[in-house]
Amino acid sequence: MRTVVMSGPGGPEVLSVDVRPSPEPGPSEVLVRVEAAGVNRPDLMQRQGKYPPPPGASDVLGLELAGTVERVGANGSRWQPGDRVCALVAGGAYAEFCIVPEPQALPIPSGLDWVHAAAVPETYFTVWTNLFQRGRLQKGERVLVHGGTSGIGTTAIQLGRAFGAQVFATAGSEDKCAACERLGAQAINYRTTDFVQAVLELTGGAGVEVILDIIGGSYLSRNLECLARDGRLVQIGLQGGNRTDINLATLMQRRLTLTGSTLRPRTVEEKGAIARELEANVWPLLAGGTVKPWIHAVYPIERAADAHRALESGEVIGKVVLTM
Ligand SMILES: NC(=O)c1ccc[n+]([C@@H]2O[C@H](COP(=O)([O-])OP(=O)(O)OC[C@H]3O[C@@H](n4cnc5c(N)ncnc54)[C@H](OP(=O)(O)O)[C@@H]3O)[C@@H](O)[C@H]2O)c1
Repeated sequence: MRTVVMSGPGGPEVLSVDVRPSPEPGPSEVLVRVEAAGVNRPDLMQRQGKYPPPPGASDVLGLELAGTVERVGANGSRWQPGDRVCALVAGGAYAEFCIVPEPQALPIPSGLDWVHAAAVPETYFTVWTNLFQRGRLQKGERVLVHGGTSGIGTTAIQLGRAFGAQVFATAGSEDKCAACERLGAQAINYRTTDFVQAVLELTGGAGVEVILDIIGGSYLSRNLECLARDGRLVQIGLQGGNRTDINLATLMQRRLTLTGSTLRPRTVEEKGAIARELEANVWPLLAGGTVKPWIHAVYPIERAADAHRALESGEVIGKVVLTM
């Protein structure tokens, strides 16, 4: 099969396409013929050697895909050859064939083509488990999404709105702010405006009940400043660093919850449980067009390096997708 290989850790130029033997599905896995694979920031970190695959995962890049079930393992129960699925994987999606643990595959929501379906799993699994399970976002609450035009951000804004929350989002340019507004958020340009002050002004001093943060570092204490009483801060990225000082009294005085999570190292059972909740709660919204993946650019697999350059450029709004 054709697959993206790496000549070593480094820049996008280490990526090329080569031929490798196709993997064999285990008893509770399926082999999927990949049509499209999403590109995510963690892929860039893995390419740079900063985010190694968890034990047992493929060393090929790629955390999400859409395609057709080719073969089913001996204990397979749900899927049949020919089924159209999208799936979250711990690696291996930048290839013609990829192994998927059965519970991590979902049917393609009706109306989505391969490219849009491949852009769903990573951000929808992440946002569901963090914004709704950990952050406990409720209808009528207010949420601040940092990086509103990231793959994660475009999903979080739409899902927040779809579930009845008022959404605020930060972004680093006027174009990106306009995109956040089109997605349903009130946008804050964090380069020209202090987001703490802006959130407090926009909420009449009350703050927001939930923050989804991909920055960390010095953002932590600023996030705490704009959380409402009983607010929840969910940390899912550390683009601004992983150490900082905070005033713990703020947690006590406003009864705040500080939490966070990673997705990739979770067990198949845990990912399967998120998949079932998504299928029940979010798949109807995708099928009905209430929410949809926002595609920035599509590249053929041979141009995986250009896809990485695009995401690294900081110009992307939404998702970059590779086609096989
Ligand atoms: N924990 C998990 O389970 C999990 C899973 C998947 C992804 N992630 C993390 O989520 C983040 C987003 O991933 P992605 O694939 O969606 O990335 P992406 O599309 O490449 O987006 C990265 C974003 O960061 C924004 N950004 C950088 N500095 C910022 C700042 N100071 N304030 C606000 N936004 C800022 C950029 O927008 P501007 O131009 O507006 O700055 C850009 O939109 C990454 O940190 C990734 O590691 C976590």
